[in-house]
Parts: sequence; C-alpha cells; structure tokens
Amino acid sequence: MGAVAAVGPLTGRDLSELGALFAARSGRPADLDRFATWIDSSPSAGARLDGALVGYATTAPFGPEVVELTSMLVAPSARGRGIGTALLGHLHDACRASGIGAVVTVTSAGYATAEPHRDAVPFYEAAGYRVAVRTEQTAVLVRSLGDEG
Ligand SMILES: CC(C)(COP(=O)(O)OP(=O)(O)OC[C@H]1O[C@@H](n2cnc3c(N)ncnc32)[C@H](O)[C@@H]1OP(=O)(O)O)[C@@H](O)C(=O)NCCC(=O)NCCS
Repeated sequence: MGAVAAVGPLTGRDLSELGALFAARSGRPADLDRFATWIDSSPSAGARLDGALVGYATTAPFGPEVVELTSMLVAPSARGRGIGTALLGHLHDACRASGIGAVVTVTSAGYATAEPHRDAVPFYEAAGYRVAVRTEQTAVLVRSLGDEG
C-alpha cells in the first residue's frame, strides 16, 4: 500500500498484461486485436504499480467529438486506493486534448465475470458521470467534458 501508481496512455507493449487482467476478471481470453484497435484510434489510460500494469481504461470512437469508454478494470489487489479515479482523470484530460466533448459508457450486472458483481455506478457518479438510462441489469452513463473535472 502507499505507493503511487504511474498513469499514462496505453501502448501496444501493454497489451499482454492488459489481456491477463481482462481474462482474470472475465474468465475468458481478451480480444487483443480489438483492444489494439481501440488504443490506436482513441484515448486510453494505464496504471503501473512497481512496474506491473494494475489497471486500464480504453475508449473507442462513438460519434463526432464523443467516445465510448469500452473497458475499464483495476486489479482486485489494487482497488480502493484511487487508481480507477486517476485513470478516469487521465482519460478525460486526454479526451479534451483531442477535442472530445463527451464520454458514454455502460455498466451491467449482465456481463459474465469470474468475480462477484459489484455495482460500479457510484464509482462513475463520483467521477462526474450521470445515469442517462437504466434497464433491469444495465446502466448507460454519460459525462460531459465541457465542465470541470
Ligand atoms: C470500478 C473500479 C474500476 C474502481 O477502481 P478503484 O481503483 O477501486 O477505484 P477508486 O479507488 O478510484 O474508487 C473507489 C470507489 O470505487 C467504488 N468501488 C470500489 N470497488 C469497486 C468494485 N469492485 N466495483 C465497483 N465499484 C467499486 C467504490 O465506490 C469506491 O469507493 P469507496 O472506497 O468509498 O467504497 C474497480 O473496482 C474495478 O475494476 N471493478 C471491476 C470492474 C468494473 O466494475 N469495471 C467498470 C464497469 S464495467
């Protein structure tokens, strides 16, 4: 504990570690070609602690000046110390620098995961997102980048 994670954009060199984080969470292999396309085409963020990738956030183009936050994960052992919030902060800054004005994302109890589900809506709300619509299992969240934060 105590160590501060280094946060920066993802590159192709992060993909194998990213894939391992994804697989541990989801119980299935990551589609690394898809992740590679996302990090080549849209802002991303990765967090390293003692040299190891412990968290990431990826986006993909959604519409003009809008991206979708496509995947976000912090390793279970590294959660609860601000890494997820730092990843979003870096991502939002990178998006603004690219002229992006809004982020949309989906969080759901319907995803197959290898760990118990915990609702991520409070995490996103603390980072300035608001719920646009909810179904039984899924929340669609949006965040404007035109204001503070
Ligand atoms: C959601 C997640 C990215 C947050 O990362 P983090 O580094 O723990 O976040 P921070 O330390 O910046 O923020 C902590 C807050 O996140 C929320 N949070 C913590 N663990 C969480 C979890 N497993 N699931 C959902 N939200 C969580 C809580 O509101 C927490 O606040 P608290 O400490 O006051 O309870 C991380 O818990 C995670 O990877 N969860 C599993 C995958 C996931 O839900 N991804 C996003 C939706 S698809």
